[in-house]
Amino acid sequence: MYHIEPTPSVFAGLQRQAPDPLLSLIALYRDDPRPDKIDLGVGVYRDAEGATPVFAAVKAAELALLHNQKTKAYLGPEGDIGFLEGLTPVVFGDTARPDDLVSVQTPGGTGALRLAAELVATGRPRSRVWMGTPSWPIHPGIFEKARLEVRAIPYFDQVSQVLDYDRYLNELGAAQPGDVALLHGACHNPTGADPSFSQWSEIADLLQRRGVVPLVDLAYQGLGAGLDEDAAGLRLLMERCETVIVAQSCDKNFGLYRERTGALFVRTRPSQQTVVRSNILQLARCAWSMPPDHGAAVVRIILETESLDLGWRAELAGVRGRLNALRSDLSASAPQLQSLGDRRGLFALLPLTSGAVEALRANHGVYMAGSGRINLAGLNEATLPVFANALAAVL
Ligand code: LMR
Repeated sequence: MYHIEPTPSVFAGLQRQAPDPLLSLIALYRDDPRPDKIDLGVGVYRDAEGATPVFAAVKAAELALLHNQKTKAYLGPEGDIGFLEGLTPVVFGDTARPDDLVSVQTPGGTGALRLAAELVATGRPRSRVWMGTPSWPIHPGIFEKARLEVRAIPYFDQVSQVLDYDRYLNELGAAQPGDVALLHGACHNPTGADPSFSQWSEIADLLQRRGVVPLVDLAYQGLGAGLDEDAAGLRLLMERCETVIVAQSCDKNFGLYRERTGALFVRTRPSQQTVVRSNILQLARCAWSMPPDHGAAVVRIILETESLDLGWRAELAGVRGRLNALRSDLSASAPQLQSLGDRRGLFALLPLTSGAVEALRANHGVYMAGSGRINLAGLNEATLPVFANALAAVL
């Protein structure tokens, strides 16, 4: 028998953390026995039957991969170069060619955000990250874990349901050269409220004037107005700002959620490219060594095969069409929801208190984020009027 002397625990300083509230909703919904419950929680696209089907283009690419893949040997910390090169025109249009960018494949958009945060923290540890609120609840933690200071500024007023644009621009004006502005490329999460093109233009001018670096979280390209339309703000930034960082995700627009497929793109001045690339690769190597391959290989095959590319674009247009139809039906259902018609993407942030969110869950089996955010794709023709009635009772 060995006797192990008690020593101070390496874990003694840990505090218990609350479970992620958004992911907890999945289990809460699953365990609710009510047959007419409605899931408007986590941001996953659903069709009218409530399913999240694999895109046909993805299935076809997976079959091709299964037949043609000869090896699973390592690719390297930058991942699948063909994936990155194929994605470049989708994201940047004609504002950048692959050679203009430092590009690396990442485990999802979250991996890209975290890598960007580490890169900034390594390059300029005192940079502050200016973040419009509300934002994706995970955003502040990603930057704080990288020891960066987050400056929260108003972006959207939930009660009056309007973009707090003037205050946003005004407060962003206090950012210093070398600071970072986190921007949602399209289909803002959680509000669905994006800046107009002329507002993007003013934001781009301000960032350029003040030497602030835009970091664009592009997780919903193609779910709003179209692939090019949803990248219009980002492409404006590319025209005006010298340094632009993009954290891209294929979760939603390729439906690859659990495959963790994304990319980090950095456009910097040419003389800095080599040093930036070497740091990104070292940070990636020390975080996950090499990204998972499957999802990126699938996206590469789709983008390099004309028929699959066309098929994917058509399927994505179907997703977008369904979301926009649901949005316009819901906005017509109550005067307080009228402004939803101008929003884009999966989400809307409703003018609800946390008590109202609780009541909707308890009394009507409606599951949504505690903030009052709904995932519109959780509705269909049958449940939309039911939800609208339940909402009317609490609005
Ligand atoms: C969401 O906001 O629901 C999605 O981005 C899923 C997630 O990871 O939070």
